[in-house]
Parts: sequence; structure tokens; C-alpha cells
Amino acid sequence: MNGADMGAEGSGVGKKLFIKTWGCQMNVYDSARMADVLAPLGYRTADEPDGADMVILNTCHIREKAAEKVFSELGRLRTLKDRKADQGERMILAVAGCVAQAEGEEIVARAPYVDIVFGPQTYHTLPEMVARAHRAAGAVLNTDFPAESKFDHLPDDAASQGVTAFLAVQEGCDKFCTFCVVPYTRGAEFSRPAAQVIEEAKRLVAGGTREINLLGQNVNAFHGEAPDGSTWGLARLIRELAEIDGLERIRYTTSHPRDLDDELIRVHAEVPQLMPYLHLPVQAGSDRILAAMNRKHTADHYRALVDKLRAARPDLALSGDFIVGFPGERDADFAETLRLVNDVRYAQAYSFKYSPRPGTPAAVDDQQVPEEVKAERLAALQQLLDSHQQAFNQGFVGKTVPVLFDRAGKRPGQLLGRSPYMQSVYVEGGERLMGTIADVHVEAAHVNSLGGTIVTGVYESNSAGATARPAIPSMEARA
Ligand code: 5AD
Ligand code: SF4
Repeated sequence: MNGADMGAEGSGVGKKLFIKTWGCQMNVYDSARMADVLAPLGYRTADEPDGADMVILNTCHIREKAAEKVFSELGRLRTLKDRKADQGERMILAVAGCVAQAEGEEIVARAPYVDIVFGPQTYHTLPEMVARAHRAAGAVLNTDFPAESKFDHLPDDAASQGVTAFLAVQEGCDKFCTFCVVPYTRGAEFSRPAAQVIEEAKRLVAGGTREINLLGQNVNAFHGEAPDGSTWGLARLIRELAEIDGLERIRYTTSHPRDLDDELIRVHAEVPQLMPYLHLPVQAGSDRILAAMNRKHTADHYRALVDKLRAARPDLALSGDFIVGFPGERDADFAETLRLVNDVRYAQAYSFKYSPRPGTPAAVDDQQVPEEVKAERLAALQQLLDSHQQAFNQGFVGKTVPVLFDRAGKRPGQLLGRSPYMQSVYVEGGERLMGTIADVHVEAAHVNSLGGTIVTGVYESNSAGATARPAIPSMEARA
């Protein structure tokens, strides 16, 4: 994603801001907030770095070669910065995100032309950092975990995010899986106050958002301060958000199996706006490896959770994350991962070769798995996951699903949306349906999408059939 997608409205003189974002949805969210914070200074987002007054690289440290990618990008940007300097103008170059947090000093030392280096918890101080960069020679380095929350300092008039929006409710992680950098780069678990979340959700809905995806590194550990001073878990927060008129769909990501309580499972059964899709990473199927990963659950604990979830919501589609070739993983351990995948049958999944991250315990484990073995296991796992995904999608052919249309397709006249189960669904025509939910008769299934035609004259019902709103009149209302 780039600056153009963020669409921040600035005031004052139009200064060009380009943000390049790597990594997770939390980073995408953070980039949009950075644009919001800089908008009052007159920065407007641009879709290329050439000629920009400020460039921010919002980085990800979760997998391999993160720092190298950043340094090679910085090398290219340096040329643009020099060219701008030749014209007597200044390009402020900033590195943000998790690489900045983890390797801030190194960036300052190796790329002295970088003006600002800041971690994920400090972007609310961007205006001040920009001012300091303008005054100072040398880089401004800010990788603190400040006592005050950045969320308390975000402007109320954030740029609208469109039909589907992300809303950060929780950040950081206390789980310390032995392969993961997140607890080090994002810091300890922190939940936003519920009232702040609800306010932001209402603003998004007033700006045209129909679906909100609640974001957090460990979102189901949410424990936000409630308006009455008590603490709400994610289940209660979702129930409250479901009261917002016009908010048709709610999702949340990413969850840890350990924090998925019965109350949250009940919400899946009882709140129709909560979509029947859950990203619930397991990482591996062998208890020996799960223990070495410090996952704090066994494979059977995960299986039992899946059974409970499916008892509450029989059509629930599951998604997962997997790591193959974790240190010490033998063939028999990997076979357990395949067995778990066969038991759960994921609708969708992400899978990775283990990659040692400096500073994490597993990186110094002396039982590293050879690269060829990792590659073989990954290929086998992905083949199995793809076959399940394809079969899941195939099962929709001939059925009708409610689709929230949120983007234009690649081909002219094509419209894309999502089913309740997170599948991308494309239809021809129907541009005026953008932002609405309409029933689609599915005619084609692929690994990554479904294709179909809009069922006209059929009244929308969301997946639980609880609300019925005519799709066509709402379309006309927008036309
Ligand atoms: N190596 C490989 N994959 C990793 N992930 C996190 N850290 C690593 C690592 N060191 C994967 C996990 C996580 C996802 C976001 O990235 O599967 O759930
Ligand atoms: Fe990383 Fe584990 Fe926390 Fe997920 S739960 S962010 S994998 S430490």
C-alpha cells in the first residue's frame, strides 16, 4: 500500500507526503494515522516518493531480510532527497515501525541522511519530531514506549477509511512466543478504553464504513476500561459495537487460542453482525514444538476450541498461521501439523518457513532445520492448505451469499466484495452497489476468489438472517 490509498485531507499549503508500508494490518492502520497526524501541518499523501517533502517507511520486522529491504529502499530514496536538495528544498526521510524500534541505532549509524527514526508507539509526536528535524542536523531518534498513549492524541477528524475499515483496539503482546519479535517491538499488551473505540467506530460509520475489523496483535486479550470504570473484554465490546446503527459487519484479528473465552464464543453464536470467520493461528500441530514455541496450548486444546466454536456457529470459516521448520522440528512433528490441518480444514491460511529473528530465544537454538527441509515441508503444507481452500470455495458454487461490495475489480465494470467468510467475490457490473450488501449467486470458485451474479429483487439478509434490509433501495439511495 502506498500514500495514495490513505487519502488524508490536509489543510494549509500542500506538502507532499509519501508513506510506504510493509507488513501487517496494524502497520497499514498506523500509516493511515500518521497521515492523519500530519494533515494539520499541510501534508497531503502522494502516491510516489518523487518530489515528496516527507517520506516515511513504515517497516515490518517479523520475517527475514526486513532490515536489508529497508536499507536498499533508503539508498534509492537518498537519490531523490539529494535531487530535492539540489533544488534548494528538503525531503524529510523517516523510518517508522518495528525495524525502527528494533534497529533504530543501526539505522542512524548506517544511513546518516535519515532525519527521523521512530517506533510504533510514538507517531502521535510526529509534528514535534518533524519540527525538531527541521531545526537539527543529525537524526531524531524516538523509540520510547511512552507512558501516555498515542491513541489519546489522534485527531478526531481522521480521514475516512471507506466501506471496510480497521480499528485498532489493542496493541502489543505479552505472550512471548519464542520465534516472534512483536513483544519486543510493539511492547506490552495495551487496550484502548472502550468509549474511545466506540466513538471511533461511530465516526467511521458516519463516514460510510459498513464493516469494521477490530485490530490487535492479540486482539482477544482486549481488556479495555469501560465507561462505568469496570473492564470489558472483547466479547462485551463487540456486543456494544453491534448496537451502532449502520454497522453491518464486525470482524476481529488476530487472536490467540489461549485468550478465546466462552463469552467470546457465545458472541459468535448470538451477534449476527459478527461475521462467521476467525483467524486463529496455531503455528504447529506437534505438542513438543508448541511447547518449544512457548505457545501455551496443545494441539488438542486448539482442536477442542475449534469444536466449541463450530458448535456455536456451525458455518464458521477458520483461518490460520503456520510455521514450518521451527528449530528441532522432526518429520514426525511436521506430520502432526498436517494431521491438525486435516482435522480443522481451514478456509484460508498463511504459512511460513521459520526464520530466526535476532533477539528471540529460538534464533539461538542449536537445532536449526536445514533450508531444503523447510522448503519441502512448506510446499507439502501449502499444497494441503490450498486443496482445502479450493474445496471450501467450491462448496459455494450454486449457493447465494451476501456480499459487501467495497472495491473496484481489475477489469472495467467489475466489482469486488467479500462474503461473510472473507472470500473475495467478483461480479460484472453493478457499480452502484458499492458500499452495500447484495446477494450474489456463486457460479465459479477459484483458490482465492468466487465469481457470480447479483440476485436482483432479493432482499438482503445477513448471514444469520437477523436483519432484512432491501439491497436495491439502499443502492438507489446512494445513486
Ligand atoms: N519466522 C517465521 N514466521 C514467523 N511469524 C512470526 N515470526 C516468525 C518467524 N520468526 C509468523 C507467525 C505469525 C505470523 C504473523 O508471522 O505465523 O502468526
Ligand atoms: Fe508474536 Fe506469539 Fe504474540 Fe502472536 S502471540 S504476536 S506470535 S508473541
